[in-house]
Amino acid sequence: MQSEAGPGGLHAAIIMDGNGRWATQRGLPRLAGHHRGVEAIRRTAEACPDLGIGTLTLYAFSADNWQRPDDEVGGLMRLLRSYLRNETQRLARTGTRLSVVGRRDRLPRGIPEAIASAEEATASGTRLHLRICVDYSARDAIIAAAQRLQGGDATRESFGALVAGQMHGSPVDVDLVIRTGGEQRLSDFLLWEAAYAELHFTDRMWPDFGADDLAAAVAEFARRDRRFGGLKTAAVPAAA
Ligand code: IPE
Ligand code: IPE
Ligand code: MG
Repeated sequence: MQSEAGPGGLHAAIIMDGNGRWATQRGLPRLAGHHRGVEAIRRTAEACPDLGIGTLTLYAFSADNWQRPDDEVGGLMRLLRSYLRNETQRLARTGTRLSVVGRRDRLPRGIPEAIASAEEATASGTRLHLRICVDYSARDAIIAAAQRLQGGDATRESFGALVAGQMHGSPVDVDLVIRTGGEQRLSDFLLWEAAYAELHFTDRMWPDFGADDLAAAVAEFARRDRRFGGLKTAAVPAAA
């Protein structure tokens, strides 16, 4: 297995679910689960290069999560602000390029600027591309791309670039989608980009997720037979 995957490695995407239940099960406020979730982000990102993962996309806040109570949304936004403030240096030091994917026009004052400066400070990182999805909706991205479509000559590549661009993202296919927290659904995450992704569901709550869980998901992924609509890859005979 590669020790330095770089952006050319595997693209894993994680629906980081179960923070609220993790906290409730311990008699803690839901926000305590979100706080512990930040530590899981750090552990998971640091484990990626050794597992051959070059791009890690994390679902942190969906466009539908605005429906939650004001105090939870406010707490999550404060957490995002402090993550950007406190983690940028460490990300730059570890060769991690940070991108924030999603709408920026509904985020609280100051956060879009903090995102831009964290992205700029980490832009030269080549060890891992860490993409964090905030105010993200795959369906809204697809609708916005369709509205911008000119003429009728879209290809999968050109339309994919348009879809990604609506959310400040770049066009990237996802190899492996992991969802923690026991639910088995996509909740409007990367619907276009995950067309041929392998899916891995685990009951582990996100605050408890760590390097071993990520390694187990990657090991299971390595045993899958990805056919992309074709037939099982036959062993290629040596050239005569
Ligand atoms: C995921 O954890 C984080 C966000 C959606 C912001 P949840 O907050 O959904 O946790 P559960 O699913 O209620 O346990
Ligand atoms: C999906 O989790 C969004 C994130 C993890 C950020 P939700 O907890 O919002 O999804 P549902 O409501 O269970 O589908
Ligand atoms: Mg949830």
